[in-house]
Amino acid sequence: MSNQENIKVGLLFSASGVISTIGHSQLQGALFAIDEINKRGGVGGRMIEPIIHDAKSEPAEYARLAERLFARDGVNVVFGCYMSSSRKMVIPVVEKWNRLLFYPTLYEGFEFSANVIYTGAAPNQNSVQLAEFMLANFGPRVYLVGSNYIYPYESNRIMRELVQQHRGGEVVAERYLPLSAGMEDFQAIARDLKDKRPDFIFSTVVGDSTSLLYQAFAEAGLQAREMPIASLTTSEAEVARMGFDVAAGHFTAAPYFQSISSEVNRRCLDKYFNEFRGTCVPNMCWEASYFQVHIFANALERAGCDQIDILLPEILGSEFDAPQGRVRIEPSTHHTCLYPRVGRVNSKGQFTIVREARRAVVPDPYLVTHSLGDWSARIEELEG
Ligand code: ACM
Repeated sequence: MSNQENIKVGLLFSASGVISTIGHSQLQGALFAIDEINKRGGVGGRMIEPIIHDAKSEPAEYARLAERLFARDGVNVVFGCYMSSSRKMVIPVVEKWNRLLFYPTLYEGFEFSANVIYTGAAPNQNSVQLAEFMLANFGPRVYLVGSNYIYPYESNRIMRELVQQHRGGEVVAERYLPLSAGMEDFQAIARDLKDKRPDFIFSTVVGDSTSLLYQAFAEAGLQAREMPIASLTTSEAEVARMGFDVAAGHFTAAPYFQSISSEVNRRCLDKYFNEFRGTCVPNMCWEASYFQVHIFANALERAGCDQIDILLPEILGSEFDAPQGRVRIEPSTHHTCLYPRVGRVNSKGQFTIVREARRAVVPDPYLVTHSLGDWSARIEELEG
């Protein structure tokens, strides 16, 4: 690759609005990786230059800014989006320009775009494992509560199917609240929980109101030990916002937790805090945002060019030693082989990993096979 101008990439996350906490962490993950790459000399001698836009947690704003990144900023590759509603808005723009979007967020699956690389968990890498774990350990009566948009609806549809496969499985209620819901809305949910007494709650509440659900639960005198909240999105970042005592005892399934004890993860966190002086609480979306930039840079090194037709063959099938373990981009689905884990929040605001896959699980975004046994798992005792 010639030693010319910088390689511009778009970073399209939300530093403001209802998902700003997680959006900030995704931006930080990407900037951290770019810093590492540039410090070791860039790619083929060229620096990676981030063009950063704040989509303010508004799906329409993501589409407008994606258009601007391609039309005005001259970018070929964008790293971005959290809510599925924003990804759904960006995909037509990326496809129109025939550019590439890297998407670092767990989502509901049932999607493929030739112009997207999906590096967060698909339902067979988080929902299936969470359902199996919660049903086996707490019981079959489940209460579904989510934010009012596509990911919660679709994720709940999948959870309902998994619950109904289980003996005695029953969804006792399914409720949706706006992304801007306030404490009174969550207090009403807490009253409903007291009335319905489910065995556990499956929450697809996302964004900054997540903390209100857990706070309303605690204030109502409900106990995580008896009726825990299980989530695919409540990460260390949301836990830090709501308070460790409020979050303790609840569960999340994700491929990455800060508490992973591997050398790669410990070194990465140490570098993030002590050399990069990072300002977010690292979490599953931070990690995906971090490793997908490295996957891109390594592919770019081999391709010598960031045009999709030349770059994409180098991305598909590529692997990287991520903090969660060695990940791989599956050529047939553009999704990523990841390591399902279930964690329980402890008194330090970290996740004690109570179950984890020994091997990466191949993504199955259409849930063609979703046997609850796809774990190769090591089972730990629950603490406390
Ligand atoms: C999400 O909307 N995919 C969390």
